[in-house]
Amino acid sequence: MNLDTVPRDRLPALLRAMPKAELHIHIEGSLEPELIFALAERNGVALPYPGVEALRAAYAFTDLQSFLDIYYAGASVLLKAQDFEDMAMAYFHRAKADNVVHAELFFDPQTHTARGVPFETVISGLARACRRAQDELGVSSALILCFLRHLSEEEAFATLEEALPYLGQFIGVGLDSSERGHPPEKFARVFARCRELGLHLVAHAGEEGPPAYVWSALDVLKVERIDHGVRSVEDPALMQRLAQERVPLTVCPLSNVKLCVFETMREHNLVELLDAGLVATVNSDDPAYFGGYMNQNFVEAFEALPQLTARHAHQLAANSFEASFADEAQKQRWREALDKVFA
Ligand code: ADE
Ligand code: ZN
Repeated sequence: MNLDTVPRDRLPALLRAMPKAELHIHIEGSLEPELIFALAERNGVALPYPGVEALRAAYAFTDLQSFLDIYYAGASVLLKAQDFEDMAMAYFHRAKADNVVHAELFFDPQTHTARGVPFETVISGLARACRRAQDELGVSSALILCFLRHLSEEEAFATLEEALPYLGQFIGVGLDSSERGHPPEKFARVFARCRELGLHLVAHAGEEGPPAYVWSALDVLKVERIDHGVRSVEDPALMQRLAQERVPLTVCPLSNVKLCVFETMREHNLVELLDAGLVATVNSDDPAYFGGYMNQNFVEAFEALPQLTARHAHQLAANSFEASFADEAQKQRWREALDKVFA
């Protein structure tokens, strides 16, 4: 098919059908209100909301912190390995329905260990779901441990220490939570140690924080991907660096609108990022909180941004495979499957 002349009304079906990888999903952000209440009941946890509707009504965020406060409260219902497994399986079913063939899942161990849930409980439930996703759904996946940047580097080191016996069960580390006032360089030593351990490195940067945080994620933490990174457009030299070195950005359109990084989807800079030659990808971030999973992100972004064409759709899916931490042979198979959809 000629990618430049596909009619716009055919784009939603193409976006839904194309195989894709998801590289920016906080698995705790996939907890739907219904599952939060079911787990609360199963575990005898009291919630400060009378029911699903009241909880959903509280999802009116003004910035990242206003979301994080509710997101950490929601995660308080997770106590047993089975809870983590159920949460991740619910996500994998949604991912499969959206033709996600590969997902790299962030998890926040400190959110759980701080409540007395052992690291082992968290990772064993998630790892079991990852094995089941492959066996039952044919979705491949991997886990990325995120350090909470509002906590100290010492606490990150303590978490890494707890994680060492499970090194074979996660492929990398990331950095998330409140960005403003917590620059990447705060975690320079712990990321250096993770690098020595052979882990992949990623970090949230340039979501609410300035381009300087993207520079230090690259130069100090030596990350391989930037999560969000949308504020990079404010710095032409940074844009050139990201394009030249093909550093992927895991962009999350619905998240950016929900957290007021952009006023509406029409203001989103996804087109600018792609047209500058960046390896931008589309992802869902915290889909239970932001109004949709992968395909919803694609469809709403393409609906709001008339410059986006079938060529961009193909590019975004190809970028998601290139930016993943899968091996080259696997990436090649995904690219071939992608090209068939666009043939
Ligand atoms: N944790 C979960 N979602 C996040 C986001 N969008 N930014 C930073 N930390 C997060
Ligand atoms: Zn995120």
